[in-house]
Order: sequence, then C-alpha cells, then structure tokens
Amino acid sequence: MKHTHIIGVGGYLPEHIMTNDDLAKVVDTSDDWIRERTGITQRHIIAKDEYTSDLATRAGAQALEDAGMSINDIDAIVVATTTPDMIFPSTASMVQHKLGGKGFPAWDIQAVCSGFVYGLAQVDGMMRGGMFKRVLLIGAESMSRILDWQDRNTCVLFGDGAGAVVLEYKDDEGGIIGSVLHCDGSYRDLLRAKHAHPGASPHNDRLDMNTDAAGVAAVEMKGNEVFRFAVTKLGEVVHEVLEKYDIKQSELDWLVPHQANIRILKATAKKLGMSTDQVALTVSKHANTSAASVPLALNDIYRAGKVQKGQLLLLEAFAGGFAWGANLVRWSK
Ligand code: ACO
Repeated sequence: MKHTHIIGVGGYLPEHIMTNDDLAKVVDTSDDWIRERTGITQRHIIAKDEYTSDLATRAGAQALEDAGMSINDIDAIVVATTTPDMIFPSTASMVQHKLGGKGFPAWDIQAVCSGFVYGLAQVDGMMRGGMFKRVLLIGAESMSRILDWQDRNTCVLFGDGAGAVVLEYKDDEGGIIGSVLHCDGSYRDLLRAKHAHPGASPHNDRLDMNTDAAGVAAVEMKGNEVFRFAVTKLGEVVHEVLEKYDIKQSELDWLVPHQANIRILKATAKKLGMSTDQVALTVSKHANTSAASVPLALNDIYRAGKVQKGQLLLLEAFAGGFAWGANLVRWSK
C-alpha cells in the first residue's frame, strides 16, 4: 500500500551562538534562571545579511542531498514559517529560486511553532489525494527578528534555524501513519506578535509610519498560562493520535516534540510512559526555533544515527493561536 515516506532529512543553524551569559549582558537575567526554568543554555542567531529563506535553502539542500535527489525531482515546496523574508512573495518561492527550481508550486503555511506538524499533515493529505509524488517540506525561522530584546520574559526563549524533509509517496512499508490538528482562537491573545505590517494590521494605532518602528513586530507571551495549557493539550493530543490510529503508547520508540521548554517535554514524555532517552532533545542548544524546532530535533536524532528503520515516532507541537497537533511516523529510511 502507498504511503508518504520521509526519504531525506536536513537542518541548518546560523553560525553565531548566543549563550545565556551573553544574554545576561543585554537584559536582567541569568544563566541559572534560564537553565532552571527552560533547559536552554544557548541559541543560534541569524547574521545581519541572512534571511529565513537562506536558512530554509541550506536545510532544504541538505535534505535533498540526503534523499539523493535534485530540485528537478521535486513537485512542490512548502515552507512553514512565522518570520517570512517579506509579507509576499512567499518564502517558499524564494527558496525554490535559490535552489534552482522553476514551475512547480511553492507556498508558505503559518501555524507558528506547530507549522511543521501542520505542514506534514497537509502535505501527507495532498499526496494521498494524488497531487504530488515528491515534496520538500521545510520549517524555517528567524525568531530573533521579532523579539523585543528588552523583554526578558520572551527574548531568552527563542533561536533561529531551519529543518527540512523530502517526502515521497510510494509503495513501501511504514511512512506517515496519520495526524491530528487543533486550534482554539479564543486563546489568541496569550501568545502573539502584533502589527506585522502597518498596512495589513488592525493595530496601526501603536505605530508611527514615519519611524523605524513601522513594520516591527515583537513576541508577547503570558508564559505561565501558555505553559499550563501546553502541558494539558499536548498530554491530550498525543493520546488522541495514538487512539485514532489504534497504537499503544508502549509501541512508541521516539518522541520528537516541539522544543519550547524542557519541563513541557518531560511532562509529555512522562504521560506517555517514555524515558528521557526516547525524547529528541535540542532545546538546550537551539532554544525554541518555532516551526523549525520539530524538523531540527528529527535531524538531530537522525544524524546521530539513533533512529532505526521500523521505529515508531510521535511528532508533536504547541503554538500561538493556540494551534497544536501531532503526527505518527513509522521510520522507513
Ligand atoms: N530572567 C530572570 N527572571 C525572569 C525572566 C528571565 N529571563 N523571565 C521572567 N522572570 C521572572 C518573572 O518576572 C517573575 O518574577 P516575579 O515572580 O518577581 O514576578 C519570575 O521570573 C517567574 O516568572 P514566570 O513567568 O512565572 O516563570 P515560569 O516558571 O512560568 O517560566 C516560561 C516562564 C519559561 C516562559 C514558562 O512559562 C514557559 O515555558 N511557558 C511556555 C512557553 C511555550 O510553550 N510557548 C509555546 C510555544 S512558543 C510559540 O508558539 C511562538
């Protein structure tokens, strides 16, 4: 029977590393506080002349190479991002051009930190429907560009990067089993980045269009309320996806979670009866890279040679919106 398979994996992190001690020179925080509350020790920060599409292109190129494919083998590019280079054209169209592709469809999706999980569900559905044979799916972010570097509640939490997979619809054992997605917009104000652009935003009153502030967005978060809701909803969604596809939690080999906070990751693993060494953990070195975090975590265990053919992986994410979801994947590479 045909399924959507992950046949290539890639990732890219910008060169510059900012440690907690570096941050403590900018805002009133400490290495101890950040480590204890979040598990983060450092994050990668994009260079001045780099853009999200550059990170996405590097990760995409590595995934193509890993799959043994060229851009000419690809039928579509989807980029999950909250930090596109521009409002339009899409970051995916820029990545297509940078990779030397032409003609096939390319588009962005926006579900903040759940973007990759949403993207995997969307592309899998389209492939099952016969739209495409091979798709390059990328999660890429430059979160450092939408942070208020004076706000210690948020600026310590995020980092930049990109992760990518090449997906192929083919007759083979394993592949993507299925997904569940959720959103509850009544929580939209607990985690947000307002006024993406003065022309497109209902929050224009806060901007003076003649200053440099025009177009500047900054992440705002009610951290502990988000924390409580994330732990509850992630606990529910992982069980929901297992029940939907009739899989026992004891069959799971890997949890590949969104990397927001080590305490949230551990709470979800505990609810699944999984040990910490069954969890892909990158939050310490990458911080929260939003839509890039799940594919970067996948890339991390894949490149370390830890994930084996036939193993069962559960991917999950929680994001502003609130938007959350999970995918089940039988590793077939
Ligand atoms: N350094 C030092 N002190 C700090 C810092 C900091 N960087 N940030 C906050 N504090 C202080 C606060 O001011 C507060 O001080 P007070 O008690 O004197 O008022 C104290 O530390 C405790 O603050 P809390 O916000 O209650 O700390 P908490 O334990 O909740 O941790 C955190 C905060 C890490 C943000 C946590 O709530 C969290 O991880 N939330 C969830 C994040 C998440 O999952 N987001 C979803 C995905 S992101 C996306 O979609 C874009």
